[in-house]
Amino acid sequence: MNQEINPWSSQPTVDIEKLFSEFGIEPISEVTDILPEVPYFMRRGIVVGHRDYGQIADAIRHKTPFHILTGFMPSGHPHLGHLLVMKEVVWHVIQGGSGYITIADREAHAVREIPWRLCDEYGREYLKCLFALGYEGKTYFQSRNDRLKDLAFEASTKVNFSELQSIYGFSPDTALAHALSVITQVADILYPQVDSEPAPTVVPVGIDQDPHIRLTRGVAHKLRMFTVEERDGYISVRSKNAPAKALEDVHRAFPGSKKYEGHVDIPGSTCSDVSAIAREIELSHGGFGFFTPSSTYHRFIPGLQGGKMSSSIPESIITFQEPDEAVRKKIMAAFTGGRPTLAEQKELGGEPDKCPLFLLNLFHMVEDDSELDEIRNRCLSGEMMCGQCKKETAERVLEFLRDFRGKMDAVEHLVSL
Ligand code: TRP
Repeated sequence: MNQEINPWSSQPTVDIEKLFSEFGIEPISEVTDILPEVPYFMRRGIVVGHRDYGQIADAIRHKTPFHILTGFMPSGHPHLGHLLVMKEVVWHVIQGGSGYITIADREAHAVREIPWRLCDEYGREYLKCLFALGYEGKTYFQSRNDRLKDLAFEASTKVNFSELQSIYGFSPDTALAHALSVITQVADILYPQVDSEPAPTVVPVGIDQDPHIRLTRGVAHKLRMFTVEERDGYISVRSKNAPAKALEDVHRAFPGSKKYEGHVDIPGSTCSDVSAIAREIELSHGGFGFFTPSSTYHRFIPGLQGGKMSSSIPESIITFQEPDEAVRKKIMAAFTGGRPTLAEQKELGGEPDKCPLFLLNLFHMVEDDSELDEIRNRCLSGEMMCGQCKKETAERVLEFLRDFRGKMDAVEHLVSL
């Protein structure tokens, strides 16, 4: 059952709501109220689900520290399908998050057999896109980050083969490098808390990456020395593998607490106060003090042909370096939410919510909500036909690309080795 979501499959993803209820992903609409400002990608129903985003929304609202991290696998040129996650990262940095971008060259090399030289070239293109969007924060390539690799090793003490088998369907002939790339991603997600300080960390991803998120949340928990639990009338700090001295320190930090074999019970305090002090004590004894990472899940932008947007289907994507004529041609040939005949479309109207081009406008090309509404209404009412809409969309995309390429050139110097 767990194998229904596989990060390396090229299958289009299954019914998103069903997956959410099955895997315990919550609807994002339940936490957006906390945010001082709801970004367009949540407002427009692009980012739809989350795990534990409440702690991130709280941090944004109260201006307390948090991290935002995501990763890109350099297995081809970046394209419009990657833009959303990039914008999510940039937005969270503006909201006060400390930013981290990982280029998953280990994964690209291990799973997609991309030569290192190409990983490097593609990776730098991704970084250029991010900087062009205004990203400020840290960036690294997995293969060149020694502290990351040490953290991956530490994380690997908490994961065994049967877990990899049940999460990813690994078999006895799965390459060891594939397993290493998984544990490297676990380390990526925990890395900001080691590089900087323990703090809530949000990882924006597509639903296909959820297995990695679940695995990492488990590892983060297993690497803690303590768990803090709310009981009836008191807080219990339980040692998982804390040194005896660390548990003693917890006892001493709370006058009136009672120390037992393996746990300390604390009356008259709150869970969040006790958690903060337990974390400090853990750190002072050489522990990690990890916050369990959070995630958001977005819908995928459909390919221009209606299926998945993927580098392996050239007609489905628009890359950032594509010549204008090719872009125009792909858009004019795109699948739409139009009806079989003109007469039918005039009478019934089009189906924008199923239309890759409308969704392209919704995801990226039309910033103004009322302009987007107008496009939707003109389509629904049968007033605007697909030919006209395609032309207008092509112009928007070309204008976006001209501007974006200029920005990419201007930030070339920010992409270091
Ligand atoms: N596996 C991701 C992909 O296929 C890339 C990735 C590597 C990543 N490390 C990450 C994504 C950490 C999110 C967080 O694109």
